[in-house]
Amino acid sequence: MRTTKFGAVALMLVCATPAFAEAPAKDKEKEVWISIGTDALESARASFKGQEPEFAEVAREKDGVAVLRVRESQLEKLSKVMHDRLNRCAGFISHETEEQALAAVERSIAVQPLAISYTIDNGTAVNSLMSAVAETNIRGTISTLSTSWTSRRYNLQSGIDAATWLKNRWTTLAGGRSDITVANFVHPTTTSPQPSVIVTIRGTSLPNEVVVLGAHLDSINGSGSSYAAPGADDDASGVAALTEVLRVAVAKGYKPARTVKLMAYAAEEIGLRGSGAIAANYKSTGVNVVGVLQLDMINYRGSSYDIVMVSDYTNAAQNTFIRNLITRYLPGVTATSTTCGYGCSDHASWHNRGFPASIPFEALMGQDNPTIHTTSDTLAQTAGTATNSVKFVKLAAAYMAELAKGTTSVALQAEDAEASR
Ligand code: BES
Ligand code: ZN
Repeated sequence: MRTTKFGAVALMLVCATPAFAEAPAKDKEKEVWISIGTDALESARASFKGQEPEFAEVAREKDGVAVLRVRESQLEKLSKVMHDRLNRCAGFISHETEEQALAAVERSIAVQPLAISYTIDNGTAVNSLMSAVAETNIRGTISTLSTSWTSRRYNLQSGIDAATWLKNRWTTLAGGRSDITVANFVHPTTTSPQPSVIVTIRGTSLPNEVVVLGAHLDSINGSGSSYAAPGADDDASGVAALTEVLRVAVAKGYKPARTVKLMAYAAEEIGLRGSGAIAANYKSTGVNVVGVLQLDMINYRGSSYDIVMVSDYTNAAQNTFIRNLITRYLPGVTATSTTCGYGCSDHASWHNRGFPASIPFEALMGQDNPTIHTTSDTLAQTAGTATNSVKFVKLAAAYMAELAKGTTSVALQAEDAEASR
């Protein structure tokens, strides 16, 4: 269920007092202005079908909030519809004037973090990182994750064991750097006995601004918890990508200006639980997350396009930035867009909390790996290689170094330059 920041505010205000309690006198033809979550617009519009006049034009729409004019006599019906259809206690706020309505919307926007300006000007660091990405390492991590345990299911001991292994692996890769820490994000047992695992590279100059790269650690077999769930593509491939990003960051002495966090989420497969808990925690504690990249299913080539950007439950401006990174740093790599139609992976947890999230995906929807959630989601399905993941890992490295900026201390070697041409 999608709740916007605005929705939460409306809920608080409106449940205490009726939304239109401040409106004076019962003048049935009197018009008032309301601000309402855009996700509720369709239901609201439907409730006025056939009435004269029908639901008013939207005067302004921004960041999930719409402002529009209605007759005061319509408010009661609207309130009932919002309650019955959307389970919201009113879910809108009425205002005496258009000016007041618009001002309220601006206020709700103002508390959001400032929009980031996307620039591509850190080529030295990006090329240094990209040149070190190696398919064998990605393949090795996918292989370990998909064959060492029968399942990485969130509520099996093997799922917990896989998290322990990953934490140890990431700690080893951090190589004792004092600016890199690895920690479990422990969830209540009822949420997930399996912890999420987070590696943090502290930013040198803007440590309070955070760039998140994520994937999910758990796997699932749709037939039940006793069946094997190797989850090689879904989503050992994403975790392997994060692992390779960490390895090249350390190998090249990368020090980000903003803080970078690589997250392996617990319990994605049963409702985005790990990422949901982390995004909620970051929202409530005011962590300034400037961008989130999700990698879930990147090792199977399902379409003629190399990279497919999911356009729903994601941030359009950040998606454009990522398309521009592909053009700039991955010449010859083709990209297009598709939709999931629902919050299909952990990016949705962040998106629903108001953070800019994106997910570059392996195929157009419907052409993705058909073996996921079965015993056949193994490396064999991708001819035993991680070749397809390489471009996604390079893209992730470019995203990290252009959004978190910062520098590498190990320059692009001559042979690397050769390989990256
Ligand atoms: N990797 C999948 C999502 C996916 C599958 C995206 C196929 C595109 C094509 C993910 O691990 C998953 O299975 N997600 C769940 C949703 C979640 C809310 C339980 C799903 O799609 O059922
Ligand atoms: Zn899945």
